[in-house]
Amino acid sequence: MIKLEHVRKIFTDGTEAVKDLSLEIGEGEFCVFLGPSGCGKTTSMKMINRLIPMTSGKIYIQGVDTMKLNVNELRRGIGYAIQNIGLFPHLTVEQNIATVPMLKNWSRAKQRSRAEELLDLVGMDPGIFIDRYPSELSGGQQQRIGVARSLGADPPILLMDEPFGAIDPITRVNLQDEFLKIQAKIKKTIAFVTHDINEAIKMGDKIVLMKDGELVQYSDPSSLLYTPKNEFVRNFVGADRVLKSLRLHKAKDVMQKPPLLVQIGEAPSRIKERMEKNMLKWAMLVDENEHFLGWITPDDLKESKRIKDIIKPPTVTATLGTPLNEALSMMFNSVIGTLAVLDDKKRLAGVLSFQHMRDVLGQYMDDSKTDTGGIQG
Ligand SMILES: Nc1ncnc2c1ncn2[C@@H]1O[C@H](COP(=O)(O)OP(=O)(O)OP(=O)(O)O)[C@@H](O)[C@H]1O
Ligand SMILES: [Mg+2]
Repeated sequence: MIKLEHVRKIFTDGTEAVKDLSLEIGEGEFCVFLGPSGCGKTTSMKMINRLIPMTSGKIYIQGVDTMKLNVNELRRGIGYAIQNIGLFPHLTVEQNIATVPMLKNWSRAKQRSRAEELLDLVGMDPGIFIDRYPSELSGGQQQRIGVARSLGADPPILLMDEPFGAIDPITRVNLQDEFLKIQAKIKKTIAFVTHDINEAIKMGDKIVLMKDGELVQYSDPSSLLYTPKNEFVRNFVGADRVLKSLRLHKAKDVMQKPPLLVQIGEAPSRIKERMEKNMLKWAMLVDENEHFLGWITPDDLKESKRIKDIIKPPTVTATLGTPLNEALSMMFNSVIGTLAVLDDKKRLAGVLSFQHMRDVLGQYMDDSKTDTGGIQG
């Protein structure tokens, strides 16, 4: 979809901001440009819509050399949210969002309804904000209008330069989540700049990690974490890369089959016997519909007591899609440190334990490997 071939940028003062960058972003792919300040992320991105002319190299979109396209035509097909927001101060929120729709001669009514729709999307009430001017908005609100504007005319390609940079952490997480949900539906081809590794891992199908104008590693987020190409990548990713990698896995990928299931009505002595035989410190109680009722531990199993008096009901449960970083926090809140995973009909589907999580993740972590999962870079 977007292909960069030996792209270079040397500014007039001699600064070589981008050195021989070659990469390809597939259709519908979310590609994150990541790297320290000054490494050339913004420059690379601006060369795609020709806001910065390249010194040499080629950029193709759908196989067409961008230098052969009319520059206005090129830009109308590319939504762009810039690093410093860049709203037009003399235009209202509606007019800002409808910049490209206006150029495309959409009707007034269609522009307004599109602006309303996009304000909703970025979590701002159109009734309050649509007729305001940028100076009447907070920095984070302006940035959200910037994101809305990039989506204005529904372009197939989006370039987003730190679009959530000026937004508080909670709103930022919500916007990221919302944006991922939208992207799952609209499948735009996206080049997204950030220097926040967590944001990159969360959002990207692929990550381009740059340093001093050069591409260091181009891979999917898990390869970046599990098989960093060199010392720079390892340091950039950070010592807690195992923890960072947790969000890449879901409960269903790592859960085990419940090792010991118990039905209501089973005699305590029999349960105890089965636990001892399997050397287990807990059993899981389910009803006739496989709904999870709670945990049973050997200490509580006394002949005199009935199951319903000794059962420990779950304080928290995970779903099949719960990311492991959330599952891990839940495990700390779970009565016995182990977490039940329920399917969408609330039936018991599996269980997560610290030991098992450690075993599974340990397989991915092999510091002797330094390849990039078959992707260039
Ligand atoms: N117009 C310019 N003239 C000269 N040098 C420039 C110009 N614009 C950018 N640079 C330099 O090019 C290099 C790359 O800049 P760029 O804006 O692409 O970095 P970045 O990766 O986006 O950084 P940040 O994370 O801080 O936004 C930097 O060293 C910068 O100083
Ligand atoms: Mg930048």
